Amino acid sequence: MDSFIVEGSTRLRGKIRINGSKNAALPIMAGALLANGPSVIEDVPNLSDIQHQMNLLTELGAVVQRQSDGSMKIEVKDESNSHARYDLVRKMRASICVLGPLLAKRGEARVSLPGGCAIGDRPIDIHQRGLEKLGAKFRLEGGDIIVTAQRLRGADIFLGGNFGSTVLGTANVMSAATLAEGTTTIESAACEPEVVDLAEYLNAMGARISGHGTPRITVEGVADLKGCRHRVICDRIEAGTFMVAAAISNGEIELENVRLRDLMATVDKLRAIGVIVDASNGGCTVARSQRLHATTITTQPHPGFPTDLQAQFMALLAIADGNSIITEKIFPDRFLHVAELARMGAKVHREGATVIIEGTDQLVGAPVMASDLRASAALVLAGLAAEGSTTVNRVYHIDRGYERIEERLNKLGARIQRVDQRELEN
Ligand code: EPU
Repeated sequence: MDSFIVEGSTRLRGKIRINGSKNAALPIMAGALLANGPSVIEDVPNLSDIQHQMNLLTELGAVVQRQSDGSMKIEVKDESNSHARYDLVRKMRASICVLGPLLAKRGEARVSLPGGCAIGDRPIDIHQRGLEKLGAKFRLEGGDIIVTAQRLRGADIFLGGNFGSTVLGTANVMSAATLAEGTTTIESAACEPEVVDLAEYLNAMGARISGHGTPRITVEGVADLKGCRHRVICDRIEAGTFMVAAAISNGEIELENVRLRDLMATVDKLRAIGVIVDASNGGCTVARSQRLHATTITTQPHPGFPTDLQAQFMALLAIADGNSIITEKIFPDRFLHVAELARMGAKVHREGATVIIEGTDQLVGAPVMASDLRASAALVLAGLAAEGSTTVNRVYHIDRGYERIEERLNKLGARIQRVDQRELEN
Protein backbone atom coordinates (compact mmCIF):
# COMPACT_ATOMS: atom_id res chain seq x y z
CA MET A 1 0.00 0.00 0.00
CA ASP A 2 1.39 3.39 -0.97
CA SER A 3 1.64 6.54 1.12
CA PHE A 4 2.47 10.11 0.22
CA ILE A 5 5.01 12.20 2.04
CA VAL A 6 4.01 15.80 1.42
CA GLU A 7 6.51 18.54 2.25
CA GLY A 8 4.56 21.61 3.22
CA SER A 9 4.84 25.36 2.72
CA THR A 10 5.28 25.13 -1.04
CA ARG A 11 3.77 27.68 -3.40
CA LEU A 12 2.28 26.13 -6.52
CA ARG A 13 2.78 27.84 -9.87
CA GLY A 14 2.32 26.83 -13.47
CA LYS A 15 -0.12 25.32 -15.90
CA ILE A 16 -2.05 22.06 -15.80
CA ARG A 17 -4.57 20.40 -18.11
CA ILE A 18 -7.61 18.96 -16.37
CA ASN A 19 -8.41 15.37 -17.33
CA GLY A 20 -11.66 13.88 -18.56
CA SER A 21 -14.27 13.29 -15.89
CA LYS A 22 -14.27 10.01 -13.97
CA ASN A 23 -17.91 10.37 -12.97
CA ALA A 24 -18.95 11.07 -16.55
CA ALA A 25 -16.81 8.28 -18.00
CA LEU A 26 -18.10 5.51 -15.70
CA PRO A 27 -21.79 5.62 -16.73
CA ILE A 28 -20.83 6.33 -20.35
CA MET A 29 -18.69 3.18 -20.40
CA ALA A 30 -21.67 1.27 -18.97
CA GLY A 31 -23.89 2.89 -21.62
CA ALA A 32 -21.76 1.24 -24.31
CA LEU A 33 -23.47 -2.03 -23.30
CA LEU A 34 -26.63 -0.68 -24.96
CA ALA A 35 -25.10 -0.38 -28.40
CA ASN A 36 -24.84 -2.62 -31.40
CA GLY A 37 -21.31 -2.06 -32.62
CA PRO A 38 -18.29 -0.35 -31.10
CA SER A 39 -18.12 2.96 -29.26
CA VAL A 40 -14.94 4.99 -29.01
CA ILE A 41 -14.75 7.18 -25.93
CA GLU A 42 -12.17 9.94 -25.82
CA ASP A 43 -10.51 11.51 -22.78
CA VAL A 44 -11.29 8.66 -20.38
CA PRO A 45 -8.88 9.25 -17.46
CA ASN A 46 -6.41 6.62 -16.38
CA LEU A 47 -7.65 5.74 -12.90
CA SER A 48 -8.16 2.62 -10.83
CA ASP A 49 -11.95 3.11 -10.86
CA ILE A 50 -11.84 3.18 -14.66
CA GLN A 51 -9.74 0.00 -14.66
CA HIS A 52 -12.37 -1.68 -12.43
CA GLN A 53 -15.08 -0.63 -14.86
CA MET A 54 -13.05 -2.00 -17.79
CA ASN A 55 -12.69 -5.32 -15.94
CA LEU A 56 -16.42 -5.41 -15.24
CA LEU A 57 -17.38 -4.69 -18.86
CA THR A 58 -14.97 -7.39 -19.99
CA GLU A 59 -16.70 -9.90 -17.70
CA LEU A 60 -19.99 -8.78 -19.17
CA GLY A 61 -18.82 -9.76 -22.64
CA ALA A 62 -17.32 -6.55 -24.01
CA VAL A 63 -13.91 -6.13 -25.59
CA VAL A 64 -12.45 -2.99 -24.02
CA GLN A 65 -9.24 -1.57 -25.40
CA ARG A 66 -7.16 1.54 -24.95
CA GLN A 67 -6.24 2.78 -28.41
CA SER A 68 -2.89 4.31 -29.33
CA ASP A 69 -4.44 7.82 -29.29
CA GLY A 70 -5.55 7.27 -25.67
CA SER A 71 -9.23 6.76 -26.51
CA MET A 72 -11.12 3.70 -25.30
CA LYS A 73 -12.92 1.33 -27.66
CA ILE A 74 -15.76 -0.74 -26.23
CA GLU A 75 -17.58 -3.40 -28.22
CA VAL A 76 -19.93 -6.03 -26.86
CA LYS A 77 -19.19 -9.44 -28.37
CA ASP A 78 -21.09 -11.75 -26.06
CA GLU A 79 -24.28 -10.98 -24.12
CA SER A 80 -24.53 -14.27 -22.23
CA ASN A 81 -23.20 -13.08 -18.86
CA SER A 82 -25.13 -10.29 -17.12
CA HIS A 83 -23.73 -10.80 -13.61
CA ALA A 84 -21.73 -8.00 -11.96
CA ARG A 85 -20.06 -9.99 -9.19
CA TYR A 86 -19.50 -8.82 -5.61
CA ASP A 87 -15.72 -9.02 -6.07
CA LEU A 88 -15.89 -6.32 -8.71
CA VAL A 89 -18.76 -4.25 -7.31
CA ARG A 90 -17.29 -3.96 -3.81
CA LYS A 91 -14.16 -2.39 -5.31
CA MET A 92 -16.24 0.30 -6.94
CA ARG A 93 -19.81 1.18 -6.04
CA ALA A 94 -20.32 3.04 -9.30
CA SER A 95 -20.51 -0.37 -11.00
CA ILE A 96 -24.23 -0.14 -10.18
CA CYS A 97 -24.52 1.94 -13.36
CA VAL A 98 -24.44 -1.22 -15.51
CA LEU A 99 -27.87 -2.10 -14.10
CA GLY A 100 -30.00 0.05 -16.45
CA PRO A 101 -28.06 -0.77 -19.64
CA LEU A 102 -28.01 -4.53 -18.94
CA LEU A 103 -31.70 -4.61 -18.14
CA ALA A 104 -32.68 -2.65 -21.25
CA LYS A 105 -30.45 -4.51 -23.70
CA ARG A 106 -30.49 -8.05 -22.32
CA GLY A 107 -33.76 -8.14 -20.36
CA GLU A 108 -31.93 -9.13 -17.20
CA ALA A 109 -29.19 -8.03 -14.84
CA ARG A 110 -27.69 -9.54 -11.73
CA VAL A 111 -25.72 -6.97 -9.78
CA SER A 112 -24.23 -7.42 -6.36
CA LEU A 113 -25.64 -4.87 -3.90
CA PRO A 114 -22.91 -2.30 -3.34
CA GLY A 115 -23.34 -2.01 0.46
CA GLY A 116 -22.23 0.97 2.55
CA CYS A 117 -18.96 2.81 2.19
CA ALA A 118 -16.78 5.37 3.96
CA ILE A 119 -19.04 8.27 2.99
CA GLY A 120 -22.19 6.65 4.34
CA ASP A 121 -25.03 4.37 3.30
CA ARG A 122 -25.38 4.02 -0.45
CA PRO A 123 -28.94 2.72 -0.94
CA ILE A 124 -30.31 2.06 -4.43
CA ASP A 125 -34.02 2.20 -3.56
CA ILE A 126 -34.60 5.09 -5.96
CA HIS A 127 -32.87 3.27 -8.85
CA GLN A 128 -35.20 0.35 -8.08
CA ARG A 129 -38.30 2.53 -7.92
CA GLY A 130 -37.51 4.04 -11.30
CA LEU A 131 -36.74 0.78 -13.07
CA GLU A 132 -39.83 -0.89 -11.56
CA LYS A 133 -41.94 1.90 -13.06
CA LEU A 134 -40.53 0.90 -16.45
CA GLY A 135 -41.72 -2.65 -15.79
CA ALA A 136 -38.69 -4.34 -14.20
CA LYS A 137 -39.06 -7.00 -11.50
CA PHE A 138 -36.55 -7.04 -8.63
CA ARG A 139 -35.59 -9.84 -6.28
CA LEU A 140 -32.68 -10.35 -3.90
CA GLU A 141 -30.58 -13.52 -3.91
CA GLY A 142 -27.31 -14.06 -2.08
CA GLY A 143 -26.60 -10.33 -1.77
CA ASP A 144 -27.28 -9.82 -5.49
CA ILE A 145 -30.25 -8.01 -6.94
CA ILE A 146 -31.73 -9.81 -9.88
CA VAL A 147 -33.68 -7.59 -12.20
CA THR A 148 -35.68 -8.84 -15.15
CA ALA A 149 -38.12 -7.44 -17.69
CA GLN A 150 -39.80 -8.94 -20.73
CA ARG A 151 -40.30 -5.51 -22.25
CA LEU A 152 -39.68 -2.10 -20.71
CA ARG A 153 -42.45 0.43 -21.18
CA GLY A 154 -42.14 4.20 -20.88
CA ALA A 155 -43.66 5.77 -17.75
CA ASP A 156 -43.82 8.95 -15.69
CA ILE A 157 -41.23 8.53 -12.96
CA PHE A 158 -40.48 10.66 -9.92
CA LEU A 159 -36.82 10.19 -8.89
CA GLY A 160 -36.56 12.57 -5.94
CA GLY A 161 -35.34 11.32 -2.57
CA ASN A 162 -34.64 12.70 0.89
CA PHE A 163 -31.29 14.05 -0.27
CA GLY A 164 -32.41 15.40 -3.62
CA SER A 165 -32.15 13.41 -6.79
CA THR A 166 -29.71 10.63 -7.55
CA VAL A 167 -26.98 10.95 -10.15
CA LEU A 168 -26.42 7.27 -10.95
CA GLY A 169 -30.12 6.51 -10.40
CA THR A 170 -30.94 9.05 -13.11
CA ALA A 171 -28.23 7.52 -15.29
CA ASN A 172 -29.71 4.04 -14.85
CA VAL A 173 -33.33 4.98 -15.49
CA MET A 174 -32.50 7.28 -18.42
CA SER A 175 -30.29 4.61 -20.02
CA ALA A 176 -32.94 1.92 -19.58
CA ALA A 177 -35.67 4.18 -20.98
CA THR A 178 -33.78 4.66 -24.27
CA LEU A 179 -34.85 1.18 -25.40
CA ALA A 180 -38.26 1.14 -23.68
CA GLU A 181 -41.47 1.19 -25.68
CA GLY A 182 -43.02 4.68 -25.63
CA THR A 183 -42.13 7.83 -23.75
CA THR A 184 -40.60 8.16 -20.29
CA THR A 185 -40.64 11.34 -18.25
CA ILE A 186 -38.20 11.52 -15.36
CA GLU A 187 -39.23 14.16 -12.84
CA SER A 188 -36.70 15.37 -10.25
CA ALA A 189 -33.88 14.09 -12.43
CA ALA A 190 -30.31 14.88 -11.44
CA CYS A 191 -29.00 17.94 -13.32
CA GLU A 192 -25.29 17.16 -12.92
CA PRO A 193 -23.09 17.82 -15.99
CA GLU A 194 -22.14 14.12 -15.94
CA VAL A 195 -25.81 13.17 -16.53
CA VAL A 196 -25.93 15.65 -19.40
CA ASP A 197 -22.78 14.13 -20.89
CA LEU A 198 -24.29 10.63 -20.67
CA ALA A 199 -27.47 11.87 -22.38
CA GLU A 200 -25.39 13.40 -25.18
CA TYR A 201 -23.51 10.15 -25.66
CA LEU A 202 -26.77 8.17 -25.75
CA ASN A 203 -28.27 10.64 -28.23
CA ALA A 204 -25.20 10.27 -30.45
CA MET A 205 -25.95 6.52 -30.39
CA GLY A 206 -29.47 7.22 -31.66
CA ALA A 207 -31.41 7.73 -28.41
CA ARG A 208 -34.06 10.46 -28.21
CA ILE A 209 -33.48 12.22 -24.90
CA SER A 210 -34.42 15.83 -24.20
CA GLY A 211 -34.48 18.05 -21.14
CA HIS A 212 -31.17 16.71 -19.76
CA GLY A 213 -29.59 19.31 -17.51
CA THR A 214 -33.04 20.19 -16.13
CA PRO A 215 -35.07 18.32 -13.48
CA ARG A 216 -37.41 16.94 -16.16
CA ILE A 217 -35.90 14.55 -18.69
CA THR A 218 -37.98 13.06 -21.49
CA VAL A 219 -36.91 9.90 -23.27
CA GLU A 220 -38.68 8.59 -26.36
CA GLY A 221 -37.81 4.93 -26.70
CA VAL A 222 -36.12 3.67 -29.87
CA ALA A 223 -35.67 0.14 -31.23
CA ASP A 224 -31.88 0.04 -31.09
CA LEU A 225 -28.74 2.06 -30.54
CA LYS A 226 -25.49 2.08 -32.50
CA GLY A 227 -21.98 2.63 -31.20
CA CYS A 228 -20.51 6.10 -31.72
CA ARG A 229 -17.54 8.33 -30.90
CA HIS A 230 -17.84 10.60 -27.87
CA ARG A 231 -15.51 12.86 -25.91
CA VAL A 232 -15.98 12.90 -22.13
CA ILE A 233 -16.35 16.31 -20.46
CA CYS A 234 -13.58 17.66 -18.26
CA ASP A 235 -13.55 16.69 -14.61
CA ARG A 236 -15.08 19.56 -12.65
CA ILE A 237 -14.08 17.97 -9.34
CA GLU A 238 -10.44 17.57 -10.36
CA ALA A 239 -10.56 21.20 -11.54
CA GLY A 240 -12.03 22.31 -8.20
CA THR A 241 -9.35 20.36 -6.34
CA PHE A 242 -6.56 22.11 -8.27
CA MET A 243 -8.27 25.45 -7.66
CA VAL A 244 -8.07 24.76 -3.93
CA ALA A 245 -4.44 23.68 -4.38
CA ALA A 246 -3.64 27.11 -5.85
CA ALA A 247 -5.47 28.88 -3.06
CA ILE A 248 -4.21 26.82 -0.12
CA SER A 249 -0.58 27.09 -1.27
CA ASN A 250 -0.82 30.82 -1.83
CA GLY A 251 0.11 30.14 -5.44
CA GLU A 252 -1.11 30.78 -8.96
CA ILE A 253 -2.20 28.03 -11.33
CA GLU A 254 -3.54 28.17 -14.86
CA LEU A 255 -6.04 25.39 -15.52
CA GLU A 256 -6.72 24.25 -19.06
CA ASN A 257 -9.75 22.21 -20.16
CA VAL A 258 -12.19 23.60 -17.58
CA ARG A 259 -15.83 24.57 -18.06
CA LEU A 260 -16.42 27.30 -15.50
CA ARG A 261 -20.17 27.10 -16.12
CA ASP A 262 -20.11 23.68 -14.44
CA LEU A 263 -18.32 25.16 -11.42
CA MET A 264 -20.30 28.29 -10.70
CA ALA A 265 -21.05 27.53 -7.04
CA THR A 266 -17.42 26.59 -6.44
CA VAL A 267 -15.99 29.67 -8.13
CA ASP A 268 -18.52 31.85 -6.32
CA LYS A 269 -17.27 30.54 -2.95
CA LEU A 270 -13.61 30.91 -3.93
CA ARG A 271 -14.16 34.53 -4.90
CA ALA A 272 -16.19 35.17 -1.74
CA ILE A 273 -13.27 34.12 0.45
CA GLY A 274 -10.71 36.18 -1.45
CA VAL A 275 -9.35 33.85 -4.16
CA ILE A 276 -8.93 35.36 -7.63
CA VAL A 277 -10.45 33.27 -10.41
CA ASP A 278 -10.12 34.68 -13.94
CA ALA A 279 -11.60 32.96 -16.95
CA SER A 280 -9.20 32.33 -19.83
CA ASN A 281 -9.68 30.65 -23.17
CA GLY A 282 -11.00 27.15 -22.33
CA GLY A 283 -9.89 27.41 -18.73
CA CYS A 284 -9.02 29.80 -15.92
CA THR A 285 -6.31 31.16 -13.68
CA VAL A 286 -6.62 30.79 -9.91
CA ALA A 287 -4.47 32.80 -7.54
CA ARG A 288 -4.34 34.01 -3.99
CA SER A 289 -2.44 36.95 -2.64
CA GLN A 290 -4.15 37.72 0.64
CA ARG A 291 -5.49 36.04 3.78
CA LEU A 292 -8.70 34.17 3.13
CA HIS A 293 -12.04 35.05 4.71
CA ALA A 294 -14.39 32.63 6.40
CA THR A 295 -17.62 31.56 4.72
CA THR A 296 -20.64 29.26 4.95
CA ILE A 297 -21.05 26.30 2.61
CA THR A 298 -23.98 23.92 2.20
CA THR A 299 -23.56 21.05 -0.22
CA GLN A 300 -26.44 20.55 -2.63
CA PRO A 301 -27.26 18.77 -5.85
CA HIS A 302 -25.97 20.56 -8.96
CA PRO A 303 -25.92 23.51 -9.60
CA GLY A 304 -25.38 23.90 -5.83
CA PHE A 305 -22.04 23.41 -4.13
CA PRO A 306 -20.81 19.84 -4.82
CA THR A 307 -20.36 17.33 -2.01
CA ASP A 308 -17.29 16.07 -3.88
CA LEU A 309 -15.47 19.33 -3.03
CA GLN A 310 -16.64 19.62 0.57
CA ALA A 311 -13.54 18.03 2.14
CA GLN A 312 -11.10 20.06 0.01
CA PHE A 313 -12.84 23.31 1.01
CA MET A 314 -12.71 22.31 4.66
CA ALA A 315 -8.91 22.06 4.37
CA LEU A 316 -8.85 25.50 2.75
CA LEU A 317 -11.15 27.16 5.30
CA ALA A 318 -8.99 25.74 8.09
CA ILE A 319 -6.49 28.51 7.30
CA ALA A 320 -9.01 31.31 6.67
CA ASP A 321 -9.63 34.24 9.03
CA GLY A 322 -12.70 33.66 11.20
CA ASN A 323 -15.24 30.90 11.65
CA SER A 324 -16.64 28.99 8.69
CA ILE A 325 -19.55 26.58 8.65
CA ILE A 326 -19.91 23.61 6.32
CA THR A 327 -23.17 21.63 6.19
CA GLU A 328 -23.29 18.37 4.23
CA LYS A 329 -26.72 17.77 2.75
CA ILE A 330 -25.95 14.95 0.33
CA PHE A 331 -23.95 12.48 2.43
CA PRO A 332 -24.47 13.65 6.05
CA ASP A 333 -21.71 11.32 7.33
CA ARG A 334 -19.08 12.31 4.80
CA PHE A 335 -16.75 13.71 7.45
CA LEU A 336 -13.95 11.19 7.96
CA HIS A 337 -11.44 13.91 7.10
CA VAL A 338 -12.49 16.01 10.11
CA ALA A 339 -10.53 14.02 12.70
CA GLU A 340 -7.53 13.77 10.36
CA LEU A 341 -7.48 17.52 9.68
CA ALA A 342 -7.64 18.04 13.45
CA ARG A 343 -4.41 16.00 13.72
CA MET A 344 -2.83 18.68 11.53
CA GLY A 345 -3.95 21.50 13.81
CA ALA A 346 -7.23 22.40 12.10
CA LYS A 347 -9.81 23.66 14.60
CA VAL A 348 -12.84 21.72 13.47
CA HIS A 349 -15.91 20.90 15.51
CA ARG A 350 -18.57 18.55 14.15
CA GLU A 351 -22.19 18.67 15.17
CA GLY A 352 -24.23 16.17 13.14
CA ALA A 353 -24.06 17.11 9.47
CA THR A 354 -22.41 20.46 10.24
CA VAL A 355 -18.77 21.31 10.91
CA ILE A 356 -17.60 24.61 12.35
CA ILE A 357 -14.10 25.53 11.25
CA GLU A 358 -12.25 28.07 13.35
CA GLY A 359 -9.57 29.44 11.08
CA THR A 360 -5.99 29.05 12.27
CA ASP A 361 -2.74 30.71 11.10
CA GLN A 362 -0.85 27.53 10.35
CA LEU A 363 -1.47 23.82 9.89
CA VAL A 364 1.27 21.43 10.96
CA GLY A 365 2.40 18.25 9.25
CA ALA A 366 1.36 14.91 10.79
CA PRO A 367 0.77 11.30 9.81
CA VAL A 368 -2.84 11.00 8.64
CA MET A 369 -5.05 8.33 7.16
CA ALA A 370 -6.90 8.61 3.87
CA SER A 371 -10.41 7.22 4.15
CA ASP A 372 -12.21 8.01 0.92
CA LEU A 373 -11.31 9.62 -2.35
CA ARG A 374 -12.15 13.26 -1.67
CA ALA A 375 -11.12 13.15 2.00
CA SER A 376 -7.70 11.93 0.84
CA ALA A 377 -7.42 14.81 -1.59
CA ALA A 378 -8.22 17.20 1.26
CA LEU A 379 -5.38 15.77 3.34
CA VAL A 380 -2.88 16.18 0.51
CA LEU A 381 -4.04 19.79 0.07
CA ALA A 382 -3.71 20.44 3.80
CA GLY A 383 -0.22 18.94 3.60
CA LEU A 384 0.76 21.49 0.93
CA ALA A 385 -0.05 24.33 3.32
CA ALA A 386 1.26 22.74 6.52
CA GLU A 387 4.54 23.43 8.23
CA GLY A 388 6.75 20.36 8.00
CA SER A 389 5.92 17.06 6.42
CA THR A 390 2.64 15.18 6.27
CA THR A 391 2.38 11.46 5.62
CA VAL A 392 -0.91 10.48 4.00
CA ASN A 393 -1.40 6.74 4.34
CA ARG A 394 -3.55 4.50 2.14
CA VAL A 395 -3.46 6.68 -0.94
CA TYR A 396 -5.08 3.98 -3.06
CA HIS A 397 -8.25 5.92 -2.28
CA ILE A 398 -6.87 8.94 -4.11
CA ASP A 399 -5.70 6.85 -7.09
CA ARG A 400 -9.34 5.89 -7.63
CA GLY A 401 -10.17 9.39 -8.82
CA TYR A 402 -7.02 11.44 -9.45
CA GLU A 403 -4.52 10.40 -12.10
CA ARG A 404 -0.96 10.50 -10.64
CA ILE A 405 -1.89 13.46 -8.49
CA GLU A 406 1.53 13.64 -6.86
CA GLU A 407 3.29 13.95 -10.25
CA ARG A 408 0.80 16.55 -11.40
CA LEU A 409 1.17 18.62 -8.24
CA ASN A 410 4.97 18.21 -8.30
CA LYS A 411 5.05 19.71 -11.80
CA LEU A 412 3.50 22.78 -10.22
CA GLY A 413 6.20 22.93 -7.56
CA ALA A 414 4.84 20.64 -4.84
CA ARG A 415 7.19 18.18 -3.11
CA ILE A 416 5.27 14.94 -2.75
CA GLN A 417 6.90 11.54 -2.69
CA ARG A 418 5.05 8.26 -3.18
CA VAL A 419 6.47 5.54 -0.96
CA ASP A 420 5.51 1.99 -0.12
CA GLN A 421 3.95 2.12 3.35
CA ARG A 422 6.11 -0.85 4.42
CA GLU A 423 9.22 1.27 3.85
CA LEU A 424 7.88 3.76 6.37
CA GLU A 425 7.26 1.02 8.92
CA ASN A 426 10.84 -0.35 8.65
N1 EPU B 1 -29.73 7.96 -2.49
C1 EPU B 1 -30.80 7.25 -1.95
N2 EPU B 1 -31.34 6.23 -2.70
C2 EPU B 1 -30.86 5.90 -3.93
C3 EPU B 1 -29.79 6.62 -4.45
C4 EPU B 1 -29.25 7.65 -3.71
O1 EPU B 1 -31.25 7.52 -0.86
O2 EPU B 1 -31.41 4.97 -4.55
C5 EPU B 1 -29.16 9.05 -1.72
C6 EPU B 1 -27.69 8.86 -1.38
O3 EPU B 1 -27.52 8.06 -0.24
C7 EPU B 1 -27.22 10.28 -1.20
C8 EPU B 1 -28.02 11.03 -2.26
O4 EPU B 1 -29.16 10.21 -2.54
O5 EPU B 1 -27.61 10.73 0.07
C9 EPU B 1 -27.30 11.32 -3.54
O6 EPU B 1 -26.64 10.16 -4.00
P1 EPU B 1 -26.44 9.87 -5.55
O7 EPU B 1 -27.22 8.67 -5.91
O8 EPU B 1 -26.64 11.10 -6.35
O9 EPU B 1 -24.90 9.46 -5.57
P2 EPU B 1 -24.24 8.50 -6.63
O10 EPU B 1 -24.94 8.65 -7.91
O11 EPU B 1 -24.11 7.14 -6.06
C10 EPU B 1 -22.52 10.18 -7.63
C11 EPU B 1 -21.02 10.31 -7.70
C12 EPU B 1 -20.47 10.63 -6.31
C13 EPU B 1 -21.09 11.94 -5.85
C14 EPU B 1 -22.63 11.81 -5.84
C15 EPU B 1 -23.34 13.09 -5.49
C16 EPU B 1 -20.38 8.81 -9.47
C17 EPU B 1 -19.68 7.59 -9.89
N3 EPU B 1 -20.45 9.06 -8.16
O12 EPU B 1 -22.79 9.10 -6.74
O13 EPU B 1 -19.07 10.83 -6.48
O14 EPU B 1 -20.66 12.26 -4.55
O15 EPU B 1 -23.08 11.41 -7.16
O16 EPU B 1 -22.99 14.11 -6.36
O17 EPU B 1 -20.84 9.57 -10.30
C18 EPU B 1 -16.82 10.82 -5.83
O18 EPU B 1 -16.52 11.00 -7.01
O19 EPU B 1 -15.99 10.95 -4.89
C19 EPU B 1 -18.19 10.45 -5.49
C20 EPU B 1 -18.51 9.86 -4.34
